[in-house]
Amino acid sequence: MNILYVTSEAVPFCKTGGLADVAGSLPQALAANGDRVSVILPLYERVKNQWGDQLHFERWTFVRLAWRSVYCGLFSLERDGVTWYFVDNEVYFRRSELYGYYDDGERFAFFSRAVTELLKSLPQRPDVVHCNDWQSALVPIYIRDEAVRDDFYKGIRTVITVHNIEYQGRYGRETLEDLFGLDRGWFDGGTIEFSGDVNLLKGAIVTADAVTAVSPTYAQELKYAYFAHGLENVMNMNARKLHGVLNGIDMQRYDPAHDKNLAASYSSDDLAGKQADKAALQRMLGLQERADTPVLAMVSRLVSHKGLDLVCETLDSFMQKDVQLVVLGKGDAKYETFFNYACRRYGGRMAVYLGYSEQLAMQIYAGADLFLMPSKSEPCGLSQMIAMRYGAVPIVRETGGLKDTVHAYEAWNGQGNGFTFANYNAGDMCCLLYTSPSPRDISGS
Ligand code: GLC
Repeated sequence: MNILYVTSEAVPFCKTGGLADVAGSLPQALAANGDRVSVILPLYERVKNQWGDQLHFERWTFVRLAWRSVYCGLFSLERDGVTWYFVDNEVYFRRSELYGYYDDGERFAFFSRAVTELLKSLPQRPDVVHCNDWQSALVPIYIRDEAVRDDFYKGIRTVITVHNIEYQGRYGRETLEDLFGLDRGWFDGGTIEFSGDVNLLKGAIVTADAVTAVSPTYAQELKYAYFAHGLENVMNMNARKLHGVLNGIDMQRYDPAHDKNLAASYSSDDLAGKQADKAALQRMLGLQERADTPVLAMVSRLVSHKGLDLVCETLDSFMQKDVQLVVLGKGDAKYETFFNYACRRYGGRMAVYLGYSEQLAMQIYAGADLFLMPSKSEPCGLSQMIAMRYGAVPIVRETGGLKDTVHAYEAWNGQGNGFTFANYNAGDMCCLLYTSPSPRDISGS
């Protein structure tokens, strides 16, 4: 099969979140399976700076976007059996960040139109165009729109994957014709309309041939108002084409036996190196160097849906125990301030790094005994999988992909790969923290 994967970010080129990790590993896995796979994404400034000299110029053209005619360049790169295409327009993409601009709607409408028009000039017509989140949600709509007039588009099947339904691409009614270049029927017929607005993700869910969510549990959760951010009825109406497909991680990229970031390497057969990594982490972060004190880690964006209120609520109580806490991440000011102050109260026992460093993240996964992820909602979550790969036992709330990947340890039969709690309740989380075994018990089991 010939698959075109459409994404707004992908490792190793550009990353703001888990979508980039999936987009950076799924295409290779599909290609290794025998499919012909290409990926297409915007040529952001940071990609051009870092990869510019390896890119091959393919062609340029003008893309129609409503009344606009916009320059569009196409570059490519071959890597790991996958062809990577980059869409160039410096007005839209030569900026320091990926998102967060006043004209994001126009930027990704351009990207989606460019993808749709460029399909015709790719070496082979894709059988499947696989889109991700709101930034490429217009692609299935444009393909459907073109197919009415142009047979080329008729046989192409489309997939939209929902990585996080919180972000839907909602714009005022006036954007429909003037910005997105769509006929009013798309709105009046209800396909792209939601609560009086244009809603790009809804439009893709309705028009795509298949809708996937990033875990089976999330696919079910999306049918309920608590998780669906307003789109629960849309999800229920499209349930026949909704599938939960669990993400995975790249087992070669994440491998403590070959990770250059670590002081010592190790594997599940011989965990000796993990002890050395724990000591190195404690030294580096100014924690007391104690092998028997469990190191509990969080590597997370510091935002509410990651369940941080539970941590704030109970931190003083679980820090009464013999435990060390390491937090890496950035996000909302209230959580950053909280962790900063808490860190001062627990000198030598708590370390906080407000920012993101891939190298430090890997050192934390390797040095930690326990990994905490008490998310309020979590479409899939990759950190708990990386933690398990590095022998840090996850403590998670049973939601979304956390529920599908972490199975509660049962002392009576020795089954399970972590600790879980069901209710979004600080007391329930704390119970687990109080009863979690010591590092010695964990490595012995
Ligand atoms: C989003 C979700 C996260 C998921 C990732 C990759 O970032 O919040 O749970 O793992 O996408 O699909």
